[in-house]
Amino acid sequence: MLDDTSFAIHPGNSQAEKPVIYRDVGSLNSYEKDGSTYLFSCENAEVAVRFFRADIVRVVMNPESTPALDQSRAVIANAEDVAVRVIDEDIYLTLATERLEIHITKTPFRITIKDSSGQELVGEGERGMCYQADGTVAAFKKMHGADHFYGFGEKSGHLNKRGEALEMWNTDVYAPHNPETDPLYESIPYFMTLREGRAHGIFFDNTFRSFFDMKTSEDTYSFSAEGGQLDYYVMAGPDPKAVLQQYTHLTGRIPLPSKWSLGYHQSRYSYESEKEVRALAQNFIDKDIPIDVIHLDIHYMDGYRVFTFDKDRFPNPKKLIADLRDMGIRVVPIVDPGVKKDSEYAIYQEGVRDDLFCKYLEGDIYFGDVWPGTSAFPDFTEQKVRDWWGEKHAFYTEIGVEGIWNDMNEPAVFNETKTMDTSVMHRNDGRPTTHRELHNVYGLLMGEATYEGMKKQLDGKRPFLLTRAGYGGVQRYGSVWTGDNRSFWEHLQMSLPMVMNLGLSGVAFTGPDVGGFAHDTNAELLTRWTQVGAFTPFFRNHSAIGFRYQEPWQFGEKYEAIMRRYIQMRYEWMPQLYSLFYEASVSGLPVMRPLFMEFPDDEKTYNLNDQFMIGDNVMIAPILQPSVTDRAVYMPEGTWVDIMTEQEYAGGMSHLIHAELEDLPIFVKKGTAFVMGDWTSNKDKTPKDVTLNVYHGEPGETYRMTFYDDDGETYAYENGDYMKLELKIVSEAKGVDVRVVGQSGNFKPAYGSILVGFHGDSVDDVKVNGQQKRQIDL
Ligand code: GLC
Repeated sequence: MLDDTSFAIHPGNSQAEKPVIYRDVGSLNSYEKDGSTYLFSCENAEVAVRFFRADIVRVVMNPESTPALDQSRAVIANAEDVAVRVIDEDIYLTLATERLEIHITKTPFRITIKDSSGQELVGEGERGMCYQADGTVAAFKKMHGADHFYGFGEKSGHLNKRGEALEMWNTDVYAPHNPETDPLYESIPYFMTLREGRAHGIFFDNTFRSFFDMKTSEDTYSFSAEGGQLDYYVMAGPDPKAVLQQYTHLTGRIPLPSKWSLGYHQSRYSYESEKEVRALAQNFIDKDIPIDVIHLDIHYMDGYRVFTFDKDRFPNPKKLIADLRDMGIRVVPIVDPGVKKDSEYAIYQEGVRDDLFCKYLEGDIYFGDVWPGTSAFPDFTEQKVRDWWGEKHAFYTEIGVEGIWNDMNEPAVFNETKTMDTSVMHRNDGRPTTHRELHNVYGLLMGEATYEGMKKQLDGKRPFLLTRAGYGGVQRYGSVWTGDNRSFWEHLQMSLPMVMNLGLSGVAFTGPDVGGFAHDTNAELLTRWTQVGAFTPFFRNHSAIGFRYQEPWQFGEKYEAIMRRYIQMRYEWMPQLYSLFYEASVSGLPVMRPLFMEFPDDEKTYNLNDQFMIGDNVMIAPILQPSVTDRAVYMPEGTWVDIMTEQEYAGGMSHLIHAELEDLPIFVKKGTAFVMGDWTSNKDKTPKDVTLNVYHGEPGETYRMTFYDDDGETYAYENGDYMKLELKIVSEAKGVDVRVVGQSGNFKPAYGSILVGFHGDSVDDVKVNGQQKRQIDL
């Protein structure tokens, strides 16, 4: 139609592909030290280098102006005073701490980051840091032949991401979750490189849509973003655990979760009425299937209006919640960000009146379609809005709710782009910024608002938050589930590397929808998945509207009995899991770990997708295929004991393991130990007995572990009401000596003492602190 106007010769009509032209930072002109920051003025950009600690350095390249160092939504650590030696030679400049050396070539400006022994960690070659005219910033780094890449937050596919290209843009993906489906709901622009047993990490703290290319070249990888600064941290390692400690030093660690949130969760989209929820709860009690939480999906609301209940379906939520609480069950309702456009709805009225919704620069509210129809979205980038949203949660906390499920917070919008218009202008705490830049942190900030609000209202009780979307640092507020998977065996398989990579990205409290969300599950799949779920950090069975119900009893008694057994097992393992969650909260180490984290020198572990560790000594190798009752299990160094059969297996090789439908292969490393409690009842989930199971090792072998406990639901532990035992277990020729080498805290658990169980075929001679005894008195 416009062909007869000048539009016919619009430059955009050209079919030719635009060449990608990178502008290099160029050569170094001069540099200066400003406080603890080194500022490099290069031909085409400025670069700042700042040590956060001797083992963590931040590099920021800004194509336009002096690098800004104070804008991160992810990093909560402050840079420490770090002693830096500066060696300025003719063509080189070196900045060195005790742990890192930043080796700079001046012409052109190239940075090589080495460890203190001079080994290259992150090097640059022909290309280094650069940018494009459209605002893209990029870093090209040398890829070594032995590099393996892990982390990247929530990604489908296998554990090791070498050979993959990955994108960070929080996206609602109902279907499908294939190995190549990318991006998903979370953006954690962080990864760990494992190279011949040594590891280092990179966190690319840029909230724009970003990309990691670990596939295009054999000797170079790159990371880039559509705008902003090239802002990244290098963490020195030297092993995977150290990298995780460094990354979580920067972005924070999980808060210690309440024990109930570590229990079994039952969900469905949706349990549609109070009547249905009561019947569901009663079924769990009658069948003695452990449960801690029932989730309420969107049907509980009045027309999907958040902070309301449908009066017909849920006439008395307060009473429902109190009655369930008496049965030992808590209720976690879903809260989405979309607020229905409805002039008679108080939340919408307030949001408009007090100017709390996301808006265009021109002043109009942004509206998008989600479950309630046309909706407005709170501008969580503004403190005032986060406070308001947090306060609104009194609606839930006042009727006994202690946990909230945040969904659709990418934010998801039912349109072609799947999200909010990227030109929406967020207030961003006084620094107005487009949604294009802040999209990836919307979910994180909603999580912060929810978590902080509930924490204030819960009067000393720990809140639980489950969130779908997030950015680096999301672990500070919530647990993450991996979104809308399906009831496919392939999705059970894929959930293992997904959860492990999330754990490697700081998100220790995570898990998939057990049984699969969409599609119809089946008896065998649900049973096998429940076995795995008993050991994933977050354990929730959830299924979608229109598909088969998948509560543990839906497939008959045979399967129900097996699932009951494994859900009970989750509770038996609770003392051990809780100690590991405590460890995650103080060190950042995940509860569920890939084998390479414990055995970084063993290359056979580098691509193991179908086995995982719980802590440092327990290995799980589930059956992940239908009708299969045998599988190969790789055993790393040491001797491994099947905890069900007590059979021993030599390490350093694979074994064929038999596992009938009722069996989940669990192995413990000889010479180590773990604690277990017993399942009591839904009403009172505290174990009566706690046993330290010791697996006899070679004489002289020692194993150290921390056992942690507290009331499991309040913050009293912050004031000393906890119990922490540092145990050193020494295998002797004829038995073991369990030494309590550290004990702190005032918490006195109801079980009073820890029994010691001995596993091994030598003479069973058990000592506690050198004395013949079979229990540790507390
Ligand atoms: C989204 C969530 C899913 C939830 C559904 C309805 O698809 O991912 O878990 O059940 O919305 O709220």
